[in-house]
Amino acid sequence: MNGGRVLRLGVLGSGRGSNLEAIVHAIDEGRLPAALAAVLSDRPEARILELGRKSGARTGAIVPSEPRGPLGAGTEEEFVRVLREENVELVVLAGFMRIVGPVFLAAYPRRIINIHPSLLPKHRGSRAAAQALAAGDTVTGCTVHYVDEGVDTGEIIAQREVPVFPGDTAETLQARIQTAEHELLPAVIASFAGHE
Ligand code: GRF
Repeated sequence: MNGGRVLRLGVLGSGRGSNLEAIVHAIDEGRLPAALAAVLSDRPEARILELGRKSGARTGAIVPSEPRGPLGAGTEEEFVRVLREENVELVVLAGFMRIVGPVFLAAYPRRIINIHPSLLPKHRGSRAAAQALAAGDTVTGCTVHYVDEGVDTGEIIAQREVPVFPGDTAETLQARIQTAEHELLPAVIASFAGHE
């Protein structure tokens, strides 16, 4: 156990931030012994930054020179600098639409995790719910995994299954998967908090 200490989190996202909301709720309800130290994005207009500000975390957008894909070494250094300034111990990617590279990975070995809306190794990459429907899956789910240099390829930490119902669209299925994500991700982070 960690002797009552709280785990300092850095959350990175590019979008809506519903997983960040779930993390904040878990902290507020005493289910997660963590502190939200920083919320960072590659997109200045991302809603996740607004949520981070409301939670009192340090927030910032660090915009890579390329519009998509890898962050690039300079941008990675900038993310790492801010996270270190805030003494972040665990980096959580929650809808972060960028590929993290060697600079970032070396700074936080086995301390960067990602949430993905499928039962990996199935349906890597974007639009995982649509991929599950196209494959005719009757069960899909979500995965929390360590981040490596690939896209959704790192070692799996935990998964939760979600049923696919007849008549599901990518949107209805994604919404059901997200409900499961909102339980799984705070629970996995809590396990890191308990094993420092
Ligand atoms: C989630 O479905 C997550 O699995 C994927 O991106 C989505 C982010 O959603 N990587 P939100 O921004 O947390 O609402």
